[in-house]
Amino acid sequence: MRELYRRSHPCIILFVITSLAIVFVSLITNYGSNTFSLLSLPSSPWTWTSTVISSSSSSTTHSSKTALYPTFTNPKMQRVVENLIKELNVESMLRSGKKRDEKMEKIESDLVRVRELIKEAIVNSRNSTLFVEDEDYVPKGQIYRNPYVFQRSYLLMERMFKIFVYEEGEPPLFHYGPCKNIYSTEGIFLNMIELSTKFRTHDPDQAHLFFLPFSVVMILEHLFDPIIRDKAVLERVVGDYVRMVSAKYPYWNRSLGADHFMLSCHDWGPRATWYVHQLYFTSIRALCNANTSEFFNPRKDVSFPEINFKTGNITAGLIIEHPSSFNRTILAFFAGRLHGRIRPTLFEHWKDKDEDIRVYEKVPESLSYQELMKNSKYCLCPSGFEVASPRIVEAIYAECVPVLISQDYILPFSDVLDWTKFSIQISVGELPNLKRILMGINDDKYRRIHESLKQVKRHFVVNDPPKRYDVFHMLIHSLWLRRLNVRIYG
Ligand SMILES: *[C@@H]1O[C@H](CO)[C@@H](O)[C@H](O)[C@H]1NC(C)=O
Ligand SMILES: *[C@@H]1O[C@H](CO)[C@@H](O)[C@H](O)[C@H]1NC(C)=O
Ligand SMILES: *[C@@H]1O[C@H](CO)[C@@H](O)[C@H](O)[C@H]1NC(C)=O
Ligand SMILES: *[C@@H]1O[C@H](CO)[C@@H](O)[C@H](O)[C@H]1NC(C)=O
Ligand SMILES: *[C@@H]1O[C@H](CO)[C@@H](O)[C@H](O)[C@H]1NC(C)=O
Repeated sequence: MRELYRRSHPCIILFVITSLAIVFVSLITNYGSNTFSLLSLPSSPWTWTSTVISSSSSSTTHSSKTALYPTFTNPKMQRVVENLIKELNVESMLRSGKKRDEKMEKIESDLVRVRELIKEAIVNSRNSTLFVEDEDYVPKGQIYRNPYVFQRSYLLMERMFKIFVYEEGEPPLFHYGPCKNIYSTEGIFLNMIELSTKFRTHDPDQAHLFFLPFSVVMILEHLFDPIIRDKAVLERVVGDYVRMVSAKYPYWNRSLGADHFMLSCHDWGPRATWYVHQLYFTSIRALCNANTSEFFNPRKDVSFPEINFKTGNITAGLIIEHPSSFNRTILAFFAGRLHGRIRPTLFEHWKDKDEDIRVYEKVPESLSYQELMKNSKYCLCPSGFEVASPRIVEAIYAECVPVLISQDYILPFSDVLDWTKFSIQISVGELPNLKRILMGINDDKYRRIHESLKQVKRHFVVNDPPKRYDVFHMLIHSLWLRRLNVRIYG
């Protein structure tokens, strides 16, 4: 069976699971304080610009006390959150008076130091002489919110960050994922985390984060009946898995999942986590479908890009060799199916309306998708069924400036990258004026955006094995920042 999977999906190498080392935490000293809480949010070392969660049915507050769990106006959500807060208090009370989890405290005290170093970098970030020399890459320039702070945080991550992967679970639902087509980043990243010698640890006491290695795509592919359409398969598999690891190991309960993460590129990734409320509201969820209206919370959740590897061959990929020689005579280009809430408006205003704005449902036989991207100044990236679209990364690879048209979408790596410097963002309401807006961007400004786009490309490239500062490392860095956002008491 394994051989079969390996052959049909060459990018996946399976791990054979043999033994487990369960290391129990030694408990030595008592807690001193009775006002003890299991989790808290340290004053964030990172400045967030996109923490607002907006939706018709919800709102959040981010005051320092309640920020761990958002406040919802939707009564069902609010009840769930109140129950979680009760569980947190119960767990905290059970713990007070007992012995400390020294290993946890060691991990936390390392993170305290990291936060201090990052804060120091924020204070000194204007001083451009402080960058660390690095023969691979030094992040500089306007594409970063704060390049010096990013470099500091990134280098600390490389030096320290460790992820423990639970070994339980059998392929194809666990330790395995798609590496072809639209959801391929789910399989590719799952596989890269498992194979990472740099970030994976087999000693849970060294770990800052714990990875739940299930694949939503695979669960649906193997267990979901398209006729019965019973989504309870997700509840069973994900729920059972979390119950199993939380019964077998002490790690889930001691943080209520706050130092655990899952990863999914499927539209139903967020939904798959709903059945375990701690996973949904407390754990880190790395999602392509980073839709704030589906309660994606940028403070704890990670947005990562969707990349469509049509053949499953990463090296063949979508990388285009010499984009500088392209002749960008088309103003804007889009080709894709008419679905979701945004594309109908785009089609209504621009399909077959204007030679400069090429909007196709299907690329005409005589033309190629790749050629059209190479020959366009701007590539339109409207959301479809889900907020993310593989076109964004395709446009970045083709150095065609992405025009992002989405609602409630938290862009990948926007904790570090300033998307306004290498993309154009327009609202659905502005679609009728699309041409005027794009024509209004003068050559100088276009050149600046285009230069930035070329620079940012390295952060979206998939390498096998991964290379520093590439898309895999950016994902790991996003996870690292989320881990720094929470303090867990031993
Ligand atoms: C920048 O940092 C260097 C090295 O620490 C220091 O010598 C210099 O005075 C700093 N410059 C400013 C403007 O703070
Ligand atoms: C964690 O908590 C769950 C639910 O309260 C409990 O069933 C389980 O035994 C606990 N796990 C451990 C390792 O104590
Ligand atoms: C993947 O594509 C690259 C570049 O086109 C090629 O050299 C390589 O042989 C391909 N690998 C597989 C496994 O098909
Ligand atoms: C770019 O394309 C236009 C129209 O297709 C053509 O007239 C022009 O000669 C081309 N320029 C270059 C440098 O290839
Ligand atoms: C985002 O989530 C909301 C709420 O579920 C949904 O109505 C909307 O269609 C989603 N956006 C996209 C582009 O899927």
